[in-house]
Amino acid sequence: MAASLTHTDAKPAKRAAELETSRLRLRPFTTEDLAGLSRITADAEVMRYIGDGVALTRKETEANLQTIVDTFSRRGYGRWAMFEKAGGALLGYCGLARPAQSPGVELVYMLARGAWGHGLATEASRACLRYGFEELRLDTIYALTMPDNLRSRRVLERLGMRFLRADRYYGYACVCYAITREEWRPDASMYLLRRAKD
Ligand SMILES: CC(C)(COP(=O)(O)OP(=O)(O)OC[C@H]1O[C@@H](n2cnc3c(N)ncnc32)[C@H](O)[C@@H]1OP(=O)(O)O)[C@@H](O)C(=O)NCCC(=O)NCCS
Repeated sequence: MAASLTHTDAKPAKRAAELETSRLRLRPFTTEDLAGLSRITADAEVMRYIGDGVALTRKETEANLQTIVDTFSRRGYGRWAMFEKAGGALLGYCGLARPAQSPGVELVYMLARGAWGHGLATEASRACLRYGFEELRLDTIYALTMPDNLRSRRVLERLGMRFLRADRYYGYACVCYAITREEWRPDASMYLLRRAKD
């Protein structure tokens, strides 16, 4: 069933960008973020609906972080590191991914447990959708989540994403949501795009 979804190839943005929303700063990850990311991925509750659902070791997180950094620099977009503008530790990530076997470009997010319940994932996701439609000129943005990940499904529904189907992706039972450029509407919330200097 995944093969029947239209695959949308994102055109790379000219330069990697930072995004700012009313409460958040999103910037590309660096390898310096390992300690912050490891603290989040070591929490089994955060990882419950990601892959095999187990906490990651620092070494596993280090490999994932390297992939995140490399992919972002190659494509000009990917997972952004998320911080409160007021400062503080890494809150998690939000961004646009395109894994192999993916139906298309996917919205992805993961927050430290202490950051749940404040609308931050929704706020960051709105900015990422806007970046995907306005800068990358995507036709459709997808999102996959495990059926029982109700918090994640609520984020997708708040964003106006449509339930498409339940199917297996990457070997896991998932629900697939999508939003097209025609369906998407920018809202009045703060969105600032800062392009990196060449
Ligand atoms: C999925 C995940 C990002 C959702 O986080 P979340 O905090 O529930 O989602 P949001 O940031 O959008 O916050 C929404 C909640 O904050 C509440 N909230 C509080 N203050 C708010 C504000 N100022 N604005 C908006 N919502 C606010 C909302 O009422 C809502 O609660 P509800 O869903 O109980 O009604 C988080 O659970 C997570 O990181 N999980 C682990 C990783 C994961 O599973 N990722 C997805 C893999 S597919």
